[in-house]
This record gives sequence, structure tokens and C-alpha cells, in this order.
Amino acid sequence: MNATAYAKLNLTLDILRRREDGYHDLQMVMQTISLTDTLTITPAQGEGKITSNLSFLPTDGTNLAQKAAAAFRRATGLGGEVDISIHKHIPVCAGMAGGSADAAAVLRAMNQLTAAGLSPLALAQIGQSVGSDVPYCVLGGTALAEGRGERLTPLPALPPCHIVVCKPSFPVSTPQLFSRVDVRKILRRPDTQGMLEALEQGDLSGIARRMYNVFEDVLEPWKRAEVHAIQNALLDAGALGAIMTGSGPTVFGLFEALPQAQQAARRLGEQYQDVFLAQPVSIPQGKP
Ligand code: C5P
Repeated sequence: MNATAYAKLNLTLDILRRREDGYHDLQMVMQTISLTDTLTITPAQGEGKITSNLSFLPTDGTNLAQKAAAAFRRATGLGGEVDISIHKHIPVCAGMAGGSADAAAVLRAMNQLTAAGLSPLALAQIGQSVGSDVPYCVLGGTALAEGRGERLTPLPALPPCHIVVCKPSFPVSTPQLFSRVDVRKILRRPDTQGMLEALEQGDLSGIARRMYNVFEDVLEPWKRAEVHAIQNALLDAGALGAIMTGSGPTVFGLFEALPQAQQAARRLGEQYQDVFLAQPVSIPQGKP
């Protein structure tokens, strides 16, 4: 069975507090986009294997897609071992939840393969044990994610627009970035309430104006400088707003007009390898 995994972007990311369990309570407005991985999931002869077009992807059971298959089996008692083949397009360790999206696609596919008939909410709950972003990736669309990321409220869809996504080549470690955050010292936060109102009104420039990610301020200065340079390039090309997504380092800009977005993607493509032009999508829930 084939399954599609959709990347996500953060329209906002706020960190409210550090919790006793080491995680952080977050408030994030999330958006699914048309940048996808393709997975093939088939019943295995013996122990399940994972293969990918990227040689460096883990294949030792730590891959989130394999963890998702195991979590589904544990939760439902259904389905045997599966072979998973992943063709990756979503950049890895980029703030776009690529691994979580693959895990969500496996959960949706196993739900169909086993005819378990679980609701998207029940699947999202299984996904919680796999990773903080997995429940959102199961449900997708435009949503407010709170708590560790698992408390989800569907929101009005992002109005049609074009999104230019650009990943700088430096790596970012999510746990390391979280450990650099002192929540008492966050000087600037996104106006999440204003973002919800702008979504309600379908006001694309209001949405773009309110995009903000508190992680941008805790990057090391040279990384922040590169993120800002990409943001400026996107804004100069006509983006209505441009921010970093998740724990980065990927930066994206929202455009109303396709030709401007195309030109921005072309320009950034001269300097960066990972540049994509995408659109917002809403996942048909429950479909693999
Ligand atoms: O849940 P997941 O494995 O994706 O989280 C990766 C790391 O990110 C965690 O180990 C934790 O350090 C950090 N994290 C956090 N608060 C969250 C989500 C993730 O501190 N809400």
C-alpha cells in the first residue's frame, strides 16, 4: 500500500513553560503543505525492514516510521511486521516534521491494511508515544497545537497562497535548542490570538504579519544571521511574511502571487540546494 506523508510548517511557535517531565508546553499554529514523502508499506516475510532513498536514514528500529508500526501493533493487537520503503523529499532535521509525517502515514496505512477502522483521533492518540508532532501529522490541515503538541484544535484553512521553503545547510538539534530557551527571558512572542482571528477572517496579509517563532531568538548569532538573510531575501521578493519553522533551520515565506514566489525560489535556488515551492493542503482525514 502506498501512503503520502505531508510536511508541516509553523505559522507560529511559542514556548509557554518548561514542564516537570522535561518537555515544554507549547502553543503553535501548524499548517500542512504539499511537500511530501512517498511510502510503500507491505506485509513482511519475517522481521520488518525499512529502506529509503537516503542512505543515512536510521534503519535500526529508531526510525519514527518503524516506531509507529510497532505502536500501532501494541495498541490494537492487529497487523504483523511490515516492510516500509520511504522515498524522501522532505528535508531531514529541518523543522518540517518529516519523520513524524512518515510515522503518521504509517499509522494511516496500517489502519487501512488491517481494516482496524480507527478514527483519526484514535490514530493521533497512538501517535503520541512516537513523537510530539505525530498527532498533528495524523490530523493535518490548519490547527492549533498545545501542550506537548498533542492537544489539537482544528482552525479555518489558510487561504490559498504560495509558499517558498528554503533550508540552510547548517544542522539544528531540537533538544539542544529547547535547552537554550529560558522561558522567563523570551522578549518577543507571537500574537497567537491575533493569528486565530486573522485565520477566522481569511486575511492572508494579517496571517503573514503575525507569523513568529520564538526559536529564532535562541539560535547562535551566525545561524540567526543566515536565517535573517533568507527571510530578507523572501521579503524583498514580495513575501507577505517569512519566518523559521519549528526548531529550524528551514525558513519559509508566504506569497499571494505565483510569479513572485517562483522568482524567489529561483533566486534562493542559486545559493541553496533545498528550495521548494509548495501550497497549503488539508489532508483528507483517514486516507493513507
Ligand atoms: O517528542 P519528540 O521526541 O519529538 O521531542 C524531541 C525533543 O524535543 C524532546 O526530547 C525534548 O527535548 C524536546 N521537546 C520539548 N517539548 C515539546 C516537544 C519536544 O522540550 N513539547
